[in-house]
Amino acid sequence: QLPEKVEIIEVGPRDGLQNEKSFVPTEVKKEFINSLKDAGVKEMELTSFVSPKWVPQMGDAAEIVADCLDSNTRNIVLAPNKKGIERVYMTDCKAVGVFVGVSNTFNQKNINKTTAESLAEVLPLIAELKSKDYFVRACISTAFYCPYEGKVEEDDVLGLCGEFVEAGVDELSVADTIGMAAPHESYSLFSKLKVAYPDVLLTAHFHDTRKLALSNIFASLQAGVTRFDTSAGGLGGCPFAPGAAGNAATEDVVYMLHRMGIETGVDLDKMLKAIEVIQPHISRPIESTYFKLNSVT
Ligand code: HMG
Ligand code: MG
Repeated sequence: QLPEKVEIIEVGPRDGLQNEKSFVPTEVKKEFINSLKDAGVKEMELTSFVSPKWVPQMGDAAEIVADCLDSNTRNIVLAPNKKGIERVYMTDCKAVGVFVGVSNTFNQKNINKTTAESLAEVLPLIAELKSKDYFVRACISTAFYCPYEGKVEEDDVLGLCGEFVEAGVDELSVADTIGMAAPHESYSLFSKLKVAYPDVLLTAHFHDTRKLALSNIFASLQAGVTRFDTSAGGLGGCPFAPGAAGNAATEDVVYMLHRMGIETGVDLDKMLKAIEVIQPHISRPIESTYFKLNSVT
């Protein structure tokens, strides 16, 4: 039983760019964001309010947000801690993603805190955000495998997600950070999450390190997931997750879904144009199949 419609959450401007070593000019980022919206994207991670010492690429977050909010799109920014949320409060952005790793070692490498310490910091912040009417997503990293600790247990993921649901989040975005999940694992975890937390939006976030992202998306669809984080051009990767490649490419995912008769609202020709905006500013080739077959550049 497949859905008629799927929601694409475009993470290219955030996950897609955060790992790029040379700084992408702020004006280019804005043009990329606008061209993604022009391609029909209705939900997008614009940037993240993290330490510019840790991730210099996201150092222009405030400028991006100042110019890129609009009422047709759910414009999401990420923030890992109190300081990040305080920076969000200084903007007009009304949708925030907090992020925590299931695995302690990954969380320490990424946020410099244990998972429990991060939770203790962000759960009260979520309550505050909800009291101010913010949309809150919880991004759950290393939900399948950790680059440092190996296999992650399903019960640990379910438990961590439960804490966020109890704190009142609107959405869980559950991630295969290093692209190691196999389709049967995605089917199993997402089926359980669907049953355990039926009242929150459930989104799957796959990195494509081993070229299994599309298969994992198909398996997750069968488990009842109708929302996917994807990145234009398949850009992306976490700087603190060694070996993580880009996200599932938006254009490949959308192509597959359209071929299956599932609506996304994304215009593929315009999506190619958005990728062409960012292509000259990134250090690696665009490897998505749809782009290689159809782009004229
Ligand atoms: P820390 O060094 O432990 O921070 O880093 P601290 O609290 O000790 O503060 C040190 C300094 O940083 C202070 O400044 C703070 O004000 C400042 P100073 O007094 O030295 O001038 N600071 C900040 N500045 C700006 N924004 C902030 C902020 N917080 C502190 N929010 C910290 C801790 C969390 C800041 C750091 O580890 C960090 O920025 N980590 C972010 C890492 C990151 O961006 N990772 C990628 C995103 S997650 C991801 O990609 C996974 C995902 O895609 C899902 C998946 O695929 O798994 C979502
Ligand atoms: Mg990611």
